[in-house]
Amino acid sequence: MYTLHTHCRACGFAKDTNPTGIKANPVTDRLQFGFSLGLQPLANDFCDEKQERRGFAPLDVMVCPQCGLGQLSVVVNPNLLYSHYPYVTSDSETMREHFQTIIHELKQECAFSSILEIGSNDGLFLEHCLKHGASRVVGIDPARNLLQASAARGVMSVCANFEQMMSPEHVVGDVDLIVARHVLCHVDDWTAFFRNLGRVARESTVVAIEVPYVRNMLAASEFDTVYHEHLSYASLQAIRCAAKANNLDLHKVVHYPIHGGSILVLLRVEGSAKPHSDCIQEVESERITMQDWGEFQAASLRKINNLRSFLRKGMKVCGYGASAKSTVWINAVGATRNEISFVTDTTPQKQWKQVPGTNIPVVDPGALLRERPEYAILFAWNYADEIIRKENRWREKGGKFINPHATSDRDFII
Ligand code: TMP
Ligand code: ZN
Repeated sequence: MYTLHTHCRACGFAKDTNPTGIKANPVTDRLQFGFSLGLQPLANDFCDEKQERRGFAPLDVMVCPQCGLGQLSVVVNPNLLYSHYPYVTSDSETMREHFQTIIHELKQECAFSSILEIGSNDGLFLEHCLKHGASRVVGIDPARNLLQASAARGVMSVCANFEQMMSPEHVVGDVDLIVARHVLCHVDDWTAFFRNLGRVARESTVVAIEVPYVRNMLAASEFDTVYHEHLSYASLQAIRCAAKANNLDLHKVVHYPIHGGSILVLLRVEGSAKPHSDCIQEVESERITMQDWGEFQAASLRKINNLRSFLRKGMKVCGYGASAKSTVWINAVGATRNEISFVTDTTPQKQWKQVPGTNIPVVDPGALLRERPEYAILFAWNYADEIIRKENRWREKGGKFINPHATSDRDFII
């Protein structure tokens, strides 16, 4: 089901042999322990009652002392995670606004005519690019179940893992822009991924990588970003290190609030354009310490215990949003179906399935008004504003949202 991961995928620290052929010392050359949630189910393993579950695997983050990359201690077989992928990019107000913002940013940096997206999912982002003037778009995604949805949007996609493609430059041709949104952290083989980026990128190409930024995750103790699909918790130094090995370098870094705090990292072929000076300063002053990881573990446990105490009071509670984050929360807290009677989600593929690791059913959001729970835990907190607005009727009837990430009693109930 999984293999062990022992060396840094960004800078090669603790690899069996370094380029000079010297064997790594198994005692001293090791990634350092950062964070643990113990054994956890696969976060998107939504199953029917009778379906066989894909099992549990350790959820521990190790940290590279050289480049600061956080990385899981195991790599779950990607066939188990992605061959049938229930996650579709949310066509939410929040995402649409975010797409507008990054498209505006990218248009200032490249010609924006011919675009490749890696991890194109159901084609939603590339469809936005077409609406904003792109003339040729191509997607690459390994999820076979999403190909048709993508084609229906007018977005042709290749069913493949980008890093495993032999000659991506022949498949894709010349592109002005390569976008990889929230995909790098799912990739095990960074060497192959960046090598292929280097093959496709021309002097004029901009490579735009969006990832949740590890500093934001640590600062806000967003431990629910940690699940088996997220193999890495990216630092700027780690991305730069892997890019430089393939003749790419940082060009610009932009921060966005999406998904709890993300960065859009723009890369270009080394020497092709002058980088924005503040991004070089930012990467050179980036410090992520083991103490930061220790505090992250402690703060996460406080939040978990807080939600556990609330559930013990025995009120009528449901969850809102069966995101991967909800699986992490529910299993970390050890909530039963008596404590959380159901979780609502708008994604048809998830409805009438059960939250991984539990027998808690996922149902449509109409259940709030039908079942009238007193509280709904806002697991999809990254869409809080639009969800709170949308569920106004239930709130008028007395329903209250719980913010699981609250750090004081005052903002626990919304
Ligand atoms: P994400 O944070 O990984 O995008 O997942 C969010 C989940 O929440 C996804 O399964 C869809 C669900 N969702 C709702 O149920 N209602 C909503 O209004 C929104 C925005 C998302
Ligand atoms: Zn490293």
